[in-house]
Amino acid sequence: MDYKFLNCDVQNFIATVVINRPDKLNALNSDLLDELDQLLDSFRNDPIVRVVIITGAGEKSFVAGADIAELAALGVSEAKRFAANGQRIFLKIERLGKPVIAAVNGYALGGGCELALACHIRFASGNAIFGQPEVNLGTIPGYGGTQRLTKLINTGRALEMILSGDKITADEALAIGLVNKVFDKDELLAKTFEFAEKIASKPVNAISWAIDAVTAAPDLNIDAGLDFEASLFALCAGTNDFKEGTTAFLQKRKAEFKGN
Ligand code: COA
Repeated sequence: MDYKFLNCDVQNFIATVVINRPDKLNALNSDLLDELDQLLDSFRNDPIVRVVIITGAGEKSFVAGADIAELAALGVSEAKRFAANGQRIFLKIERLGKPVIAAVNGYALGGGCELALACHIRFASGNAIFGQPEVNLGTIPGYGGTQRLTKLINTGRALEMILSGDKITADEALAIGLVNKVFDKDELLAKTFEFAEKIASKPVNAISWAIDAVTAAPDLNIDAGLDFEASLFALCAGTNDFKEGTTAFLQKRKAEFKGN
């Protein structure tokens, strides 16, 4: 399928999705979100896609937020639907069943920061800028920022960002755990791809269940979390890749995972 606002290239089991609206710093309008929704659906059961990378077109911006022109026209009930729609799509990223890595290559503001937060791992270029500036528009984050930022970097830090609307640098984002790693801007995509290739070479079921267990952890008490972990651990034991991985170790050879 052809997309107007997205480019997608699949190589070595890795889909690189480029948010492509550079004249508006890749701001997320409704059509773009619809396309992202469809593209994510197409990835879910596609065995050719084991890992997804999301980045922005151009050198300046990952995503500069939800489209403020659309935002400005919202009434109360439309605003609820607007937020719910973005939240649904970002939840689809979190629950894709495959690792999704944000390669943040510039501004990640408002919905752009929230898009990065919905990804499982965040790598950033040295020139990346993060922020939740919605208060400056008279509103609050509506695509999951109040929830995911709080879980990721703690309540006080999330409030500091959300109440001030201040922008922070990539190094500051690294220091507070908002991003996993910072790379030189010319290296960001290559380093992200290298990391994605490493994950793509692992048994796909174990990778998927590891994501399920880890992402559920903040919402579960310890008993429920451990029970969930044990159930997924048991599912792993029923896979051919588990037999292959353990047998290969004992036979002192490299495992050949088949993804089942
Ligand atoms: N929605 C819609 N359009 C946006 C946008 C957004 N979130 N962010 C940037 N744009 C557009 C600008 O309106 C401008 O369009 P134009 O050339 O047709 O006038 C274009 O992208 C370039 O942006 P500009 O502001 O000229 O670039 P800059 O380098 O001076 O500033 C930013 C960059 C990111 C600091 C600034 O664009 C900005 O503050 N954007 C809004 C960020 C925000 O509040 N996001 C949260 C939204 S909920």
